[in-house]
Amino acid sequence: MTVFVTGATGKLGPHVIASLVARGERVRALVRDPGKARPLLPADAELVQGDFAAIPTVEAELAAAATMLLLTPHGPDMAAVQNTLIDLATRAGTRVVKVSGTSAGIRPDGPDACRQHFDAEKHLADSGVPWAVVRPNGFMQTLIVAMAATVRERGLIANPLGTAGISLVDCADVGAAAAAVLTDPRHDGRHYVLTGPAAPTYAEIAAVISEETGVDVKVLDVTPEQAGDAARARGLSDWEAGHLTEMLGMFRTGASEYVTTDVEEVTGRQPRSVRDFVRDHRHLFTG
Ligand SMILES: NC(=O)c1ccc[n+]([C@@H]2O[C@H](COP(=O)([O-])OP(=O)(O)OC[C@H]3O[C@@H](n4cnc5c(N)ncnc54)[C@H](OP(=O)(O)O)[C@@H]3O)[C@@H](O)[C@H]2O)c1
Repeated sequence: MTVFVTGATGKLGPHVIASLVARGERVRALVRDPGKARPLLPADAELVQGDFAAIPTVEAELAAAATMLLLTPHGPDMAAVQNTLIDLATRAGTRVVKVSGTSAGIRPDGPDACRQHFDAEKHLADSGVPWAVVRPNGFMQTLIVAMAATVRERGLIANPLGTAGISLVDCADVGAAAAAVLTDPRHDGRHYVLTGPAAPTYAEIAAVISEETGVDVKVLDVTPEQAGDAARARGLSDWEAGHLTEMLGMFRTGASEYVTTDVEEVTGRQPRSVRDFVRDHRHLFTG
């Protein structure tokens, strides 16, 4: 089966492609910069140079593919970009598997990125093409990697979640689940809510990092607004900083503490824990 993959070179894309290639599927990956993409992706993945605005390129790929992985970065225009790609897939009659966001926020009044996922999911459901959706919770590759930087620099993590837990998920598990869904139409019409195996608090995550790295990690309580301001000071755009504040505010209510069995249902294996992730990425914490 040929799978056309967008968002191939970000945090999640390479994991999806590695799982597809391991299953023996043919992957056509849309990339803006083949020189950057080549070392990130398996040698068997075929690179298609272009971006989301390269309509004739995307149309040609959709015409030749059985399924498209719809994965685009969040930003103020995410739903508009995704709806255009859904329209192109609809014209080509190509099945779509969409990566959405944290399930708790995917509603018309959710945080902006989640609200946009709600819009794009609805557009997809109304399109007439076969579809499936995966809704991962926050990625370990985003939130724990961010913690690693402050552990390295200051021996602490900032905690904007108070006493709430969060069922962070490893992109390796999201990639494996997405590959399974991409290659089997029996998943059509389903929404899979992908989480890790537990929902630790930030204090519990700090303890795991200390145990696994030998660094005595302190926890500094902050508000979601302070975390957003710090991100803006590090150079994030106003939209990105606002997005972070909104998401952290939602997480702080405990809305993302749910733990599902969907990774295991789709992949046949248990999702990886925060401890597994920290153990495999010790170098990020110790420099
Ligand atoms: N971060 C999280 O914790 C999290 C959790 C759950 C769901 N999500 C969802 O996951 C999605 C983001 O995935 P990610 O974190 O893997 O993204 P990412 O790391 O931001 O990567 C974005 C990808 O999109 C590509 N891209 C950007 N602009 C493009 C354009 N104009 N044309 C073609 N390609 C373009 C990038 O290519 P280049 O390499 O060329 O820049 C890169 O491959 C969002 O929908 C988000 O809501 C994220």
